[in-house]
Amino acid sequence: MRKVYYADELIEEVRSRNDIVDVIGTYVNLKKKGNSYSACCPFHHEKTPSFHVSREKQMYHCFGCGVGGNVYTFLMEHENYSFPEAVEFLAERAGIKLPEQSMSPEAKRQADVRTKIKDMNRLAAGYFHYLLKTERGTHAMEYLKNRGLSDETINQFGLGFSDVYSDDLYKYLKSKGYRDEELRDSGLVKYDEKHGASDRFWNRVMYPIIDTNNRVIGFGGRVMGDGKPKYINTQDTPVFDKSRNLYGLNLAKKSKRKGIIFCEGYMDVISMHQAGFDNAVASLGTALTVGQVNLVKRFTDHVYLAYDSDEAGTKAALRALEIMREFEMPTRVISLKPYKDPDELIQAEGTENFERRIDQAQSGIMFEIDILAAQYNQDDPQERTLFQREAAKKLSLILDPLERKNYTDSVARQYDIEPDVLKEAVTRYGVAGAGRIDTSVFREQRPRKSPEEEKEEKHLKAERLLLTWLVNENSLFDKLEGVITAEDFFEPVYHDIAAELFSQYHKDGKVIPAAVINHYQSKEEHEKVSRIMQQNFDIEVAQSDKSKVITDLVKGIRLRSIQHQIELAQGDLAKTGKLMIEKSKINKLIIAL
Ligand code: CTP
Ligand code: MN
Repeated sequence: MRKVYYADELIEEVRSRNDIVDVIGTYVNLKKKGNSYSACCPFHHEKTPSFHVSREKQMYHCFGCGVGGNVYTFLMEHENYSFPEAVEFLAERAGIKLPEQSMSPEAKRQADVRTKIKDMNRLAAGYFHYLLKTERGTHAMEYLKNRGLSDETINQFGLGFSDVYSDDLYKYLKSKGYRDEELRDSGLVKYDEKHGASDRFWNRVMYPIIDTNNRVIGFGGRVMGDGKPKYINTQDTPVFDKSRNLYGLNLAKKSKRKGIIFCEGYMDVISMHQAGFDNAVASLGTALTVGQVNLVKRFTDHVYLAYDSDEAGTKAALRALEIMREFEMPTRVISLKPYKDPDELIQAEGTENFERRIDQAQSGIMFEIDILAAQYNQDDPQERTLFQREAAKKLSLILDPLERKNYTDSVARQYDIEPDVLKEAVTRYGVAGAGRIDTSVFREQRPRKSPEEEKEEKHLKAERLLLTWLVNENSLFDKLEGVITAEDFFEPVYHDIAAELFSQYHKDGKVIPAAVINHYQSKEEHEKVSRIMQQNFDIEVAQSDKSKVITDLVKGIRLRSIQHQIELAQGDLAKTGKLMIEKSKINKLIIAL
């Protein structure tokens, strides 16, 4: 169960030197509220904040989806770090030097692979950028200049050139001491039986893909001219997951502009930034993913789509709108017509006109309804009816009643429909729930439980509640002295926590909740433990009822524990007798608070 590669004291020191509010605050926009900080949860989609961070307890908890833990848990969840990686990250942040080689061999190997790939990527990016500026890169530099890019933009995005030889980068990285196997892992080099090693990218202009921690995680390479394929991209590697990254977000996250603008291409992002729209990002040659929306959600509360104006772009926009709706992320669509993409638009019309197009961007719903309208012959009564029915269904998806009314009115105006008739249709579809997006897939699904399971669950809840109480009210330890011990807790994790809490209290006269979590290494365990530490049920129990509630909890836990010991005694009369006496004592127990 416990696989600790760093000493407990060290893990605790690293934890205590990284304030949880500061750390989480760099990822999530926290608002101070009394003693705690809150935000919309970064782990599930929601409109009202139920994600809480407590400076006092050094823990976080989401009342919406149940996640929670200490600063380590957060990094494991949010950055997908292993426990040792989270420790290392925070040690570095706090300037604490860790002893070498404390990781498990396998964890260490994986961390090494990732570090090496990032190093190789950084070297490659530097090399491509350098080549672009040498004689060998003249042609590529000309290409970029012809596309209107300034030196400043080229430097800011770290653009580069991969040489015409198909093993140029391979040789360069070999000269830096990397082994073939490592080069292959990075995705920069490919192998085949016949030809051996060759560069994945050659004779292309190179766009490094940089994540929000400023690490080069991959590349896109564009052919200069009309060759095929137009783009080659890094395939997924241990550091590159294109469904969870966005091109340009490393810069866009620092933008002072409101909202994030999604486009389709590398060149669109670069052009937009150069024109001052430095809040532009692009999904990496794929349809928008849930992981990407989760990512931008940390930095903005509304987005714009500036997708290509062709049919494929329109389809992609409609799909993106569906995902944004699941996240309840307000989305507007920027019209680029008559131009194909943002890059062309900016080249043709300049900056000011783009600003105007942002202001005039259409809400996602209106965009969808306009597209719908174009699919029906509005002069044919039957088709018109079909259109109106579909439009009403769309409108019924708007959750906010005021917003729904306003959009219904404007659709009625625009398409010359009797407002009351449309309103009635919208209400009907709304009530029937027709087409309403099912967001339950984002929540945990629980199967039904048997009576035994329910009983068991009730008992576990009692153990959990008592632990929570102990964490919140340390004075309870003295009241329970001699009445209950850690050995009475049945569930193994709770037993361990109880042992840890009792021993902390006996040693220091208080408990440090966030420190207890350090003993666990999996996300699941962290969550289980943190749920106990974080809940605060002063809210649930009135002061006058507290004595009764605590008495019942302790009784329930002790009685089950005694029952268990009776079973273990297997008819040993002396033992059983003693336990029976104990049982009747417990039945009369009253704890006064
Ligand atoms: N893309 C890709 N592979 C391709 C074509 C496109 O990965 N063979 C991705 C790239 O991320 C590209 C985006 O899809 O930036 C949009 O494609 P497209 O509109 O064809 O290219 P542009 O970005 O407009 O590139 P350019 O302006 O240089 O032609
Ligand atoms: Mn383009």
